[in-house]
Amino acid sequence: MADLSINLAGIKSPNPFWVASGPPANTAYQAHRAFDAGWGGVVWKTIGDPIVNVSSRYSSLNLGTRRMVGFNNIELISDRSPETNFREIAEVKKRWPDHALIASLMVDTRERWHEFVKRSEDAGADGIELNFGCPHGMCERGMGSAVGQQPEVAEKIVGWVMEAAKIPVITKLTPNITDVTFAARAARKAGSNAISLINTINSITQVNLDTFCPEPFVAGLSSHGGYCGPAVKPIALNMVQSCAADPQVRLPISGIGGIASWRDAAEFIALGSTSVQVCTAIMHYGFRIVEDMAEGLSDYLDSKGMKSVNDLIGRAVPTLQKWESLDLHYKRIASIDYEKCIGCNLCYIACEDGAHQAIALVPPNGHGLGPGRVPGKPIPEIKDQECVGCNLCSLVCPVDQCITMVSVDTKREKMSWSDYQRKLAQGEIEPIPAHP
Ligand SMILES: Cc1cc2nc3c(=O)[nH]c(=O)nc-3n(C[C@H](O)[C@H](O)[C@H](O)COP(=O)(O)O)c2cc1C
Ligand code: SF4
Ligand code: SF4
Repeated sequence: MADLSINLAGIKSPNPFWVASGPPANTAYQAHRAFDAGWGGVVWKTIGDPIVNVSSRYSSLNLGTRRMVGFNNIELISDRSPETNFREIAEVKKRWPDHALIASLMVDTRERWHEFVKRSEDAGADGIELNFGCPHGMCERGMGSAVGQQPEVAEKIVGWVMEAAKIPVITKLTPNITDVTFAARAARKAGSNAISLINTINSITQVNLDTFCPEPFVAGLSSHGGYCGPAVKPIALNMVQSCAADPQVRLPISGIGGIASWRDAAEFIALGSTSVQVCTAIMHYGFRIVEDMAEGLSDYLDSKGMKSVNDLIGRAVPTLQKWESLDLHYKRIASIDYEKCIGCNLCYIACEDGAHQAIALVPPNGHGLGPGRVPGKPIPEIKDQECVGCNLCSLVCPVDQCITMVSVDTKREKMSWSDYQRKLAQGEIEPIPAHP
């Protein structure tokens, strides 16, 4: 069985699954429940000078019957006193010495950072996470994303923290920035031991068309909230990979954003994360989801002959390159498995109206008959020569593996855009003709 334990910049954890800083990591009661359920680490709800929250605080994007595909909040950092939080951290750490317990911090002045770092260490925290990401409320007070959005400010504050810290420091980055690697580089330059990303994305999830007020509703007003949950996973993966691939960052990464299953976690790890953090999925389904995550990741590593999580970290990072490196001579086309096709013709209409008119509707002669298909009804047929391999039909097809994309031997040598430009300039080739 694969070894799930990890070591992120000196923070040891029995598995890579950490509860992210947020409502599920607010109290000792919850941390005990999380560790009991099997989580390897907990990043405590951000501690700072106690704040006052509003009511209500959350809203969501639902798609069809699927609830909370995207989740939005206007909650601030911990509303409990630092004394209570640090006392409870000490209590939890005592009972769970082999699990990772990380204090998330957000304060303002150099002296306060020094003080809170020391209090975290005194409480026995294994590491510190700097919350430079909160996109609402705290940024108006010069903290949270107001810091994360300005690499020079982030560098200064990480520097203050590093003056005092004796335990590993993770800088948590905001996605509300044009290029996250600038903030990651600043963290590295100032001595941060690791980075975590992403925090939440500025958002408005819905507008009530009777009150003309977006949700969450606070006495007739609302505010820009932080977006998270499954909908943000692609954005988070992109940012994690950008940092993992950047030679000027080179820091261990704790990946966050829309993780709800072992598969999500494995993708984040393959793109460079050592640990992964989860908030929304726990708020939706509870701590118990970690059981399936741990079992699934372990089985997956075994199936690939990988001995530990370390074997997976960063495996997919080098396969992401600049567009100009991709092979212009590679081609794949769509292929329909008629034994599976139910004859909905969604692929036809998508290609006809939204893509490249590369699917014909033809009499069903000689093709297999998928479940529920009406005999005699025209069926889609791929026009191989017209198909550009855009994937759209395979994405809209409601039947799993009914349309697959197959590679075609073009009998042409690999040629990237950079090769193409060079060969053109040297007069070695003619320009590729434009599509008719
Ligand atoms: C209600 C709520 C409160 C949060 N509070 C904090 C916080 O105090 N500190 C922090 O660093 N991140 C906070 N987050 C952000 C999460 O830690 C995490 O970065 C984000 O939700 C993305 O992960 P997810 O998609 O698994 O939720 C909060 C998120 C939510 C939904
Ligand atoms: S979308 Fe899929 S199931 Fe529907 S007609 Fe096309 S191939 Fe068949
Ligand atoms: S892959 Fe794109 S171009 Fe080819 S048939 Fe499907 S939708 Fe049309």
